[in-house]
Amino acid sequence: MNSIELMTKNEYEEWTASTRDARMAWWREARFGMFVHFGLYSQLGRNEWVQTLENIPVEEYARLADTFNPKPGAPREWAKLAKEAGCRYMVMTTRHHEGFSLWDSKANPFNSVKLGPHRDIVREFVDACREYDLKIGFYSSLMDWHHPDAIAAMYDTAARKRFTDYIEALNTELLTQYGKIDVLWYDVASPMENWEGWDSLERNKRMRLLQPDLIINNRSRLDEDFGTPEGHIRADDRDWEACMTFNDISWGYVDEVQAEPHAYTTPRILKMLCTCSRQGGNLLLNIGPKPDGSVPADAVKPLQGVGEWLKRNGAAAYGKLGRSYGFGGNGVSGVSCAQDGKTVYLWNWIWPSTGSMGFGGYCDAPKRVYTLCDGKDMAFEQKGQRIILHDLPEKSPDPSGVTVIVMEFDKVPEYHPRSYYPQSTRDRDWAKDNKI
Ligand code: GLC
Repeated sequence: MNSIELMTKNEYEEWTASTRDARMAWWREARFGMFVHFGLYSQLGRNEWVQTLENIPVEEYARLADTFNPKPGAPREWAKLAKEAGCRYMVMTTRHHEGFSLWDSKANPFNSVKLGPHRDIVREFVDACREYDLKIGFYSSLMDWHHPDAIAAMYDTAARKRFTDYIEALNTELLTQYGKIDVLWYDVASPMENWEGWDSLERNKRMRLLQPDLIINNRSRLDEDFGTPEGHIRADDRDWEACMTFNDISWGYVDEVQAEPHAYTTPRILKMLCTCSRQGGNLLLNIGPKPDGSVPADAVKPLQGVGEWLKRNGAAAYGKLGRSYGFGGNGVSGVSCAQDGKTVYLWNWIWPSTGSMGFGGYCDAPKRVYTLCDGKDMAFEQKGQRIILHDLPEKSPDPSGVTVIVMEFDKVPEYHPRSYYPQSTRDRDWAKDNKI
């Protein structure tokens, strides 16, 4: 095979596919990451797109750098919380669409070392991630509202060259000045409409030469290593990571009093995590720190609750899991399963007061059923294609209210969902043969 610089697009894609398993091993087991959107826009508290949405002139917007002054140690606060929340990695906006670099950039004088706080926030972030043993991701916008060539790059080849060189220089700085970096998270490839326009193939090759284990997302108009469903959680037939805001409103900080009714609770975050766990994806959950870099209060407790839950129930979420489409719960539970399919985790959001509940569709009896948070065995009975649990404790045993019930089988259980509503020919035949 050609050396990486000489590879055609096909060769490059074959090569990245053949090396992906090794590169992605940690990522595929990590499940949960923290996204951080922090920049000049955080001071206005009206969405990270505020410059464009309100047509604020570049010079006026740039003056926000004068007042940008995160408190010392802010990135450490994020990393500490990420660790407490059970995250295994973080991704920070090193430079969002506004074009303000949060590091000592030679390519971009509009940065946090020349201006504002005179601090390298990227360095602080990297150090904090290392202190808390979190993998490190750099979000890097392709679109740039500050750069003079960013629009002309659309139609003027000289401007485009200057602009793509600038993008390359920024990312080269990021990937050479901070030691090992795990993820390069591109965003918004506008205005150019294809990878050729962005020079993405050549740039990404060079980025990989700088950081041989680098994982790259799919937003530079090349598929690269993983898909990035945004604002919704839907499985892809490839590696994928759903990125979600904390409040359904904005990535950048918004006033927490107004956002409060939308802010996620621990059980709601667990719901998202369950959907990712069952379908082989990751959850990248965002916080938008306040202007001084502190974490909005409405994010802290819910995230800590997730971390405590993961300490008790991590087996249902982290690690090599199977895609559990094959198994169902009941109306109040979600399902993940071990990679071999023999252990099924039922994440339960509502604890019934009736003392029993069932799981339909399972045609084999489990050898053991227990609650994951405390390892206590549960009484169960197998009736046809139902598993019925008896003598349930009065309250949900997990203090969060989301209890995982583990069913262990000695083989992959035969499972036929919804006997009253067979969904496939296989289910129909099975229902007929078994006179269901
Ligand atoms: C977007 C938005 C942006 C946000 C990002 C996160 O495409 O432009 O503001 O950073 O998605 O996924």
